[in-house]
Amino acid sequence: MRDLNQSSKLPRVGTTIFTEMSALAKKHGALNMSQGFPDFQPPKPLQDEVIQAMASGSNQYAPMAGNVALREWIAGNAEDQTGAVYCPETEVTVGAGASSLIFAAIQALIHHGDEVMVLTPCYDLYQPAVELAGGTVVSVPLKPKTYRMDWEAMKAAWSDTMRMVIINVPNNPTGATWNRDDLGKLADLVEGTNAYVISDEVYGPMHHDGREVLSASHERRLRDRSLVFASFGKVLHCTGWKIGYVLAPAEISRELRKVHQYDVFSTGAPFQAGIAAFMNSASGQAHMAELASFYQAKRDRLINGLAGSKWQFSPAEGGYFQVLDYSAFEERDDRTATSAWCTQPNGLALIPLSPFYPEGLAGGQSVRICFAKGDDTIDLGIERLLTISNE
Ligand SMILES: Cc1ncc(COP(=O)(O)O)c(C=O)c1O
Repeated sequence: MRDLNQSSKLPRVGTTIFTEMSALAKKHGALNMSQGFPDFQPPKPLQDEVIQAMASGSNQYAPMAGNVALREWIAGNAEDQTGAVYCPETEVTVGAGASSLIFAAIQALIHHGDEVMVLTPCYDLYQPAVELAGGTVVSVPLKPKTYRMDWEAMKAAWSDTMRMVIINVPNNPTGATWNRDDLGKLADLVEGTNAYVISDEVYGPMHHDGREVLSASHERRLRDRSLVFASFGKVLHCTGWKIGYVLAPAEISRELRKVHQYDVFSTGAPFQAGIAAFMNSASGQAHMAELASFYQAKRDRLINGLAGSKWQFSPAEGGYFQVLDYSAFEERDDRTATSAWCTQPNGLALIPLSPFYPEGLAGGQSVRICFAKGDDTIDLGIERLLTISNE
């Protein structure tokens, strides 16, 4: 047998920080505001639709590309929101969460020796997926403090072998969004090249303070090379159902499906059917219309509770994470500090920012907190954060 310590295909990958912190929180009874999922339930009418789908027999394999009614809703919604027309038959694919489809896309499109631009800090899936495909990650830091895209740095890092740029807006972990100018600059960057754009928009509708909800699909010049990913888990408070989708031109979708059909093949038939029925209902439409203000109120509750404290922050522009800087009261690095805060009495589990950076690049003295929580949890979180900063 091969010695897997010597021949691992992903030698630098261990247990993720999310699993690590959640296990630590459980062991020490800490309040867990680390992992990115709601502690409240999906809308009742949605649960009813899924139960109904099961009861009426939607229990065998869904079509490989996804439930037809769901794909039709997805295409119609994309056109309403962005003006882009996607064919539900050939350009919409439903998978086991956005992550399974991002993984499939990278395996399908990246060849040995290709370079892939990743903006850091970023979600931890991208780098191992690129490396498994034989590609090389070129990481470009987002701008300090604002975490906006740094177009000069991105241009400077470009090469002839760049085959893909991965964007994530609203960003996990930073909450940063983009504007129309950024969309144009992205189109300028890739124009005339062979690069695909992966636009990870799983927190898509959650833009705060009246910011325009923008997708790569809004920019005509990006459409023929972009894959736009979304997650029902995120927007419907049901991350455990793992239903997501991707929009991409037919030629690209065909390649992606070649991987998807041998990896996941198809996913949760009653969940897809139930989501389709809910999204087409008045309560589904109301849920989506209220989503941004629902999360903005949670963000505001958190940051108002920390106003005037030693925690420093810029309010998250989108998504359901807030980055907090603790440099005003604590010198330890982010991994050491978060472990200590988690394991102390009345502990609190947060995520250090350094695991969102490539190896060797530190995250500074910042942590990520998830505010997709009930108001009581947010209030208790504030109390514990203030205890930590006042110690
Ligand atoms: C940026 C980003 N992309 C993708 C995903 C995965 O989404 P899903 O649960 O639909 O696979 C997550 C989940 O945390 C995420 O934060």
